[in-house]
Amino acid sequence: MALIQQCLRVCNDVAPSWAGGQEDRQEFCVREGLCAAVEQSFAWAVGQRPVIESHGAMLPSALATVCPKRLALAVSFCFRKSVERSVAALHGQRVLLGVSGGIAAYKAAELVRRLRDAGAEVRVVMTAGAQRFITALTLQALSGNPVRTSLWDEAAEAAMGHIELARWATRILIAPASADLLARLALGRADDLLTTLCLASEAPLAVAPAMNRVMWAHPATQAHVGTLRARGVEILGPASGEQACGETGEGRMSEPQVLVDALSATLVPQRLVSKRILVSAGPTFEDIDPVRFLGNRSSGRMGFALAAAAAKAGAEVTLVAGPVRLATPSGVSRIDVRSAAQMREALLSALPGQHAYIGAAAVADYRPAEIATQKIKKGDGPSSLVLERTVDILAEIASHPQRPACLLGFAAETHDVETYARGKLEAKRLDGIAANRVGVPGQGFDADENALKLYWNGGQREYATASKAAIAAGLIDWVADWLERK
Ligand code: C5P
Repeated sequence: MALIQQCLRVCNDVAPSWAGGQEDRQEFCVREGLCAAVEQSFAWAVGQRPVIESHGAMLPSALATVCPKRLALAVSFCFRKSVERSVAALHGQRVLLGVSGGIAAYKAAELVRRLRDAGAEVRVVMTAGAQRFITALTLQALSGNPVRTSLWDEAAEAAMGHIELARWATRILIAPASADLLARLALGRADDLLTTLCLASEAPLAVAPAMNRVMWAHPATQAHVGTLRARGVEILGPASGEQACGETGEGRMSEPQVLVDALSATLVPQRLVSKRILVSAGPTFEDIDPVRFLGNRSSGRMGFALAAAAAKAGAEVTLVAGPVRLATPSGVSRIDVRSAAQMREALLSALPGQHAYIGAAAVADYRPAEIATQKIKKGDGPSSLVLERTVDILAEIASHPQRPACLLGFAAETHDVETYARGKLEAKRLDGIAANRVGVPGQGFDADENALKLYWNGGQREYATASKAAIAAGLIDWVADWLERK
């Protein structure tokens, strides 16, 4: 703890100006393990608990021997990385900011600034009420885009129709959201431009209520808020405090930076823009005859979650799926296959130009040497099936001339997880291997949750039991780290 305090002091003194990723690491000897140690130490120092995803084992001996100044630089590096990530969270996002009528509409001006500072492109739509509190000209100047105020504006519709505007948005934020606006949204009305856009858009919607405390507490308003929340609308705030009407209580609009932070927190940093990621998922079925096959218990959910997470991070994703009953994640191109041979063919033809291949499929290791063309009839005595090996697709891709820069495999083990996983990492020449223990109830095959250990040459990271979507997001973050380092 004393070392960390010393480190913080030095960190303040040094305040280095940083140049760029790889060079920083080399110049300041910030190795993966050291970063992890520093992160862990900070988590203990600040929150009295470890960080959930460790980037490697904590190295107390490394902490004890490293010089405080160097450690401070490492800390500063870690902090800068995390700040960069939160700032980058809105990068590339197209935020449609709806402003409704309330005194808090004046805060919309600062909100536009903060959203743009966080990297978002902003277009503003104002209700009739909002225009009585703040001018469209102010918001136009700050957003750098024309402000829309009416559904019936022919010139504006000709430039960008309202349906086009609804499709343009990747997020809709309404701040302030008045009691009337919440009521109209809850009822699904489309009686002005803003409510019409909310109905016509598939973008996630967040609202920042702002009104007098009695209006906020009214059962009608609370019922509308409940309806919206149940529909998946994010309710940001309101805050408590002194109100414009002179009363004190709950109903103030949350501060602009709080809203930007809340919006950023729900967004996935666009770390894989312009990257192509190939994912395999699900089992393979190896036919024995026209009615029977050899299969396995893979549900495909982990691979689908990985494809979804990669697409959310901005990647162009191709998903080669074995026989599963799962919906295609949004923004993902899907190729359906049945057998290991078909999966190999589909993966190899999609391989050129891929930056990463994630082999989450449970590919059959053996298939019947022959597929009977007619249903095999049962006889009296025992029967046997002659099997032959399938090709190891992952190993083939690893030695392929068009090998992607990042290869992540999966290993399902019942015991000695690390030994077997690291063995496969080496034997198949992978960059990383995600190993899970199968046979644990509620985890792994056909379950909603999973727990994994990710191993790579020189490091490991543990993902405690969580939804497959959450674990997939963590693994995709590692893929992004790996590609950044290349
Ligand atoms: O050796 P093992 O089957 O446990 O390795 C699992 C990893 O290898 C998974 O990533 C799986 O997708 C891949 N694999 C493959 N082709 C096979 C068998 C496994 O690509 N025939």
